[in-house]
Amino acid sequence: MAVTIKEFFHPPTFTYSYIVADNQSKQAAIIDPVLDFCAASGTTGTDSADQLISYIKAENLELQWIMETHAHADHLSGAKAIQQQIGGQIAIGARISEVQSVFKSVFNLEDEFVADGRQFDRLLEDGVTLPLGDSTFTVIATPGHTPACVSYLIDDALFCGDTLFMPDYGSARCDFPGGDAATLYDSVQRLLKLPANTRMFMCHDYAPGDRDYEFLTSIGEQLEKNIHVGGGCSKEEFIAMRTERDENLKMPALILPSLQVNIRAGDFPPAEDNGTAYLKLPVNLL
Ligand SMILES: [Fe+2]
Repeated sequence: MAVTIKEFFHPPTFTYSYIVADNQSKQAAIIDPVLDFCAASGTTGTDSADQLISYIKAENLELQWIMETHAHADHLSGAKAIQQQIGGQIAIGARISEVQSVFKSVFNLEDEFVADGRQFDRLLEDGVTLPLGDSTFTVIATPGHTPACVSYLIDDALFCGDTLFMPDYGSARCDFPGGDAATLYDSVQRLLKLPANTRMFMCHDYAPGDRDYEFLTSIGEQLEKNIHVGGGCSKEEFIAMRTERDENLKMPALILPSLQVNIRAGDFPPAEDNGTAYLKLPVNLL
């Protein structure tokens, strides 16, 4: 194997972050890092980010990329906290500007916040590649859960963000702004055309039915067993299932703080004149 992949689980938000290291050059990428956050007190913590940094240092890796699969709604990104410690360029799908534009309006953000993706170091279009030593990530645009969702393919490893979950949990919700079930179905079909032995690394797992948490499956397993898209499920069936299911889902607990930070690449809003940064709650808007 040309690359080594190490997973890190964040139990409070059921998120998997990954470090991908090119074995030859020791160049590394972090995918979907988490910033710890207590909504009750408004305090942040870097225990999770520090675990990733410790691994990078212990393995003598050189961090090149901090890659987001999308603007997460369930956890704050640790991208900026990690970049401030050990560098790396923060990359996300180019359509993040659409997500920024929606939430700039929702949160009535300051004029200086420009919804064109400039808060990130790299904006990724479908099909572009990111080098990692002798290896290469290929970006696959996989909109549907959000417009800016991307998946990352390196060798036989696919980081699919919130397109699909483990086969017994199904697929991502499509009811956030800019989300669309038909679009997600098309994105998933694209992924399912990859070789059956392609390894799929999950962004989340919720361990239904009391099984252990898992992060790894394959395209072949998804084709055969995924409860939402496996067994040749039609687009019409998928849209009907997804629409009905999404109507009954609650908002993620951290959606409001998460989006305010994640559309800034993991930064907080500018401090106010007392030196403190604040996050907002829009009252009766959503
Ligand atoms: Fe998500």
